[in-house]
Amino acid sequence: MRFTKEILNGTKILPVFKNEKYNEELEFLSQHKLFDGEEKTAYYFPNVKGGASIYVGLGEKDKVDFDLIRLSYFEAGKLLLEGNIDKADVTVPSLENLCQHRLGEAIGEGLLQATYVYDSHKSEKKEQVDTEISFNPTYKADKFFEGLEESKTLIKGIFTARDLINEPANVIYPETLAQKAVEILSPLGVKVTVYGQKEIEDLGMEAFLSVARASSREPKLIVMEYKNNPKSDELLAYVGKGITYDAGGLAIKPATSMDTMFCDMGGSGTVIGAMEAIATSKLPVNVVAVVAACENMIAGNSYKNGDIISSMSGKTIEIKNTDAEGRLTLADAVYYATHNLKATKIVDLATLTGACVAAFGFEVTASVTNNEKFFGEIMEASKEAGEAIWQMPTFDYYRNMNKSKVADLKNTGGRYGGMITAGLFVGEFVKENTPWIHLDIAGTAFLDDKTGYLPAGATGVMVKTLYYLASIDEK
Ligand code: BES
Ligand code: MG
Ligand code: ZN
Repeated sequence: MRFTKEILNGTKILPVFKNEKYNEELEFLSQHKLFDGEEKTAYYFPNVKGGASIYVGLGEKDKVDFDLIRLSYFEAGKLLLEGNIDKADVTVPSLENLCQHRLGEAIGEGLLQATYVYDSHKSEKKEQVDTEISFNPTYKADKFFEGLEESKTLIKGIFTARDLINEPANVIYPETLAQKAVEILSPLGVKVTVYGQKEIEDLGMEAFLSVARASSREPKLIVMEYKNNPKSDELLAYVGKGITYDAGGLAIKPATSMDTMFCDMGGSGTVIGAMEAIATSKLPVNVVAVVAACENMIAGNSYKNGDIISSMSGKTIEIKNTDAEGRLTLADAVYYATHNLKATKIVDLATLTGACVAAFGFEVTASVTNNEKFFGEIMEASKEAGEAIWQMPTFDYYRNMNKSKVADLKNTGGRYGGMITAGLFVGEFVKENTPWIHLDIAGTAFLDDKTGYLPAGATGVMVKTLYYLASIDEK
């Protein structure tokens, strides 16, 4: 799909609010109960005189929001691809009460979302038409086109995240994940540094190394630095869980729980995709991303339930369950980001707990924070992005559950409140007084069934939110 300003005289993509009938075709469709402008629907109507129209249902005009626009134009995008249509012209809906930049982003993104396919391992790939699409904004056209441009950047980041997360563990493992980060981000001016076993040992990341030990693949610490605001002292850190395969360790998972555990580097795919979008847009901000990448495997030298280990922070940890590995790798990663890189704000993202999926399902990302103001910013970003986040309570009751009788902390707080205690565990390693947000994407990063414009498999959820959060920081 390509976007242009030139009118192409192709298939018309026309907006329709609920029950609007501004031509004979719409009268006909309404009479025959085929299409009535219902939100998130689209209808392909071939014209007897040649040409065709795609009507895009937007629902009630006063209820339209950006995610609804994305969903509606996603339906139109699918019709373009199904019909092999190579030229189309979008009549931009007149929604002058909305930000025209965001309108451009939402329409562009909705259309582009329809183009995602993960077929890198299929021998026969379905050919997809490369549709050229024009737009005719009549109100604040410059803003609209800026937003349209941004939609391409965001989609690129989202698709990068999806591709990385969809790849199985024999393709994406710590070394190849690091290579991908270099390949994708270095050309955009992001400094990517990859540390191996020896350097990770020198840093004293014992928690990370304990998880990594049983794997025959070398762990990698991937550090990505994008500094584009010399005037600002702020440094935002994005830390992504990078377990390229989670077998559970000695506390082995049942086979059926293991079959999608290549997606356990979902947090890292997300931060790499977000960094790509941020750097492509040249946002005037300072952002670093950190990924502690390894596999959680089983071998004679595995770490064991009952072990007491240390961490980069010096805090000791009693291992209650080797399957609660993500928080251990994140502990050293967030410590490194806030102490060594001196991040002033930090967000960590992780496919961290089954408890999160049990509580929230697949459409809402759960969150723990130590700073309401910072959390307010991510809520604003997530609303613009159409990516739901909900905050969990952090009473001392939960913090106390992570205390161990024999060490400073234990790596599970038990079955109850598992999403909260997991998040709070990570928070123990963030430098004191640093605003921090933890996002548990265990339910939202990888889906069994497609939902809206999100495909089955990896969703790339939170790439947009992280991008918008970084652009708020700019102000
Ligand atoms: N990677 C899993 C969590 C997960 C579950 C991600 C489902 C995506 C979908 C994590 O490492 C894990 O195994 N968590 C355990 C923690 C428990 C042992 C305290 C869990 O949730 O069962
Ligand atoms: Mg696990
Ligand atoms: Zn895991």
